Amino acid sequence: MPQRQNITDVLMVGATGSIGRLAVAAAQRHGLRPRALVRDLRRGEELLPGVELVRGDLEDPASLRSAVGGAGAVVLTHGSGGDSRADARAHVDYGGVRNILRALDGARPRVAPMTSIYATRSDIPGATPWKRRSERLLRASGLPCTIVRPGWFDHAGPTQRRLVLEQGGTADGGIARDQIALTLVRSLLTNTALGKTFELIAEEGEEPSDWAELFGALKTDESGSVDGVSDPSDLAVEAEPRAVRADLDAVRSHRGTSG
Ligand SMILES: NC(=O)c1ccc[n+]([C@@H]2O[C@H](COP(=O)([O-])OP(=O)(O)OC[C@H]3O[C@@H](n4cnc5c(N)ncnc54)[C@H](OP(=O)(O)O)[C@@H]3O)[C@@H](O)[C@H]2O)c1
Repeated sequence: MPQRQNITDVLMVGATGSIGRLAVAAAQRHGLRPRALVRDLRRGEELLPGVELVRGDLEDPASLRSAVGGAGAVVLTHGSGGDSRADARAHVDYGGVRNILRALDGARPRVAPMTSIYATRSDIPGATPWKRRSERLLRASGLPCTIVRPGWFDHAGPTQRRLVLEQGGTADGGIARDQIALTLVRSLLTNTALGKTFELIAEEGEEPSDWAELFGALKTDESGSVDGVSDPSDLAVEAEPRAVRADLDAVRSHRGTSG
């Protein structure tokens, strides 16, 4: 049995998305009370019948304040995939995390963000560092986090259900969407997942039965470091854009004042 954290209300960011919808269902199955952040209430009602909805836009910080209130945990599965703006990843993938952190205003929920198996891969065509930067904000915030970097969605056969968690940014492979959603929710409920960052794929074999053991085998991110424990050191904070450094400083100083 997982060691259960004292969590009931979970804010689901990206809840209408392909992973978010499954994460909402997984949260319900595990006895949690999901609250879905949606931009469009009617779309939310259609896609998530019976789920508590709260209207908000990740690009509108003021709209997020009531959404985060009272949440014992936050699951982040948003993404800018359908957004054609050239800077959508900066505004949504990264800016959305920054704005959620601002809205929390000292509250300290458990956080389970989904980023990407390529979060640290500068060699992949089209890769950008925005998801890695969003991870850095979360680590700098000091919030209790488990950062899940999934491989290719649904590029896994039906008998590939054995979860493989790797660290170091070199993993590659696929995983079923439902297993990504389940891993995010299980991470909230399992103490050994705390402070871990990992790539997630699935290989031939059975689903996990012991989540504490699965997460427990991983190395913990180093306290005070903005990177995952085995991440490459090819993105120096000092060389980051001024606005990104300012966001990191703001998150750190807030950590210092919120106890
Ligand atoms: N495809 C892969 O193999 C793969 C692998 C690893 C990682 N990823 C990452 O996974 C993410 C996509 O996941 P997915 O398929 O679940 O995404 P999706 O189906 O495109 O859903 C995106 C979610 O983000 C929400 N969203 C976007 N902009 C928002 C905003 N400004 N405010 C509030 N919510 C907003 C959307 O809400 P609306 O319903 O309002 O649009 C939707 O709920 C991408 O970031 C991608 O990089 C993908």
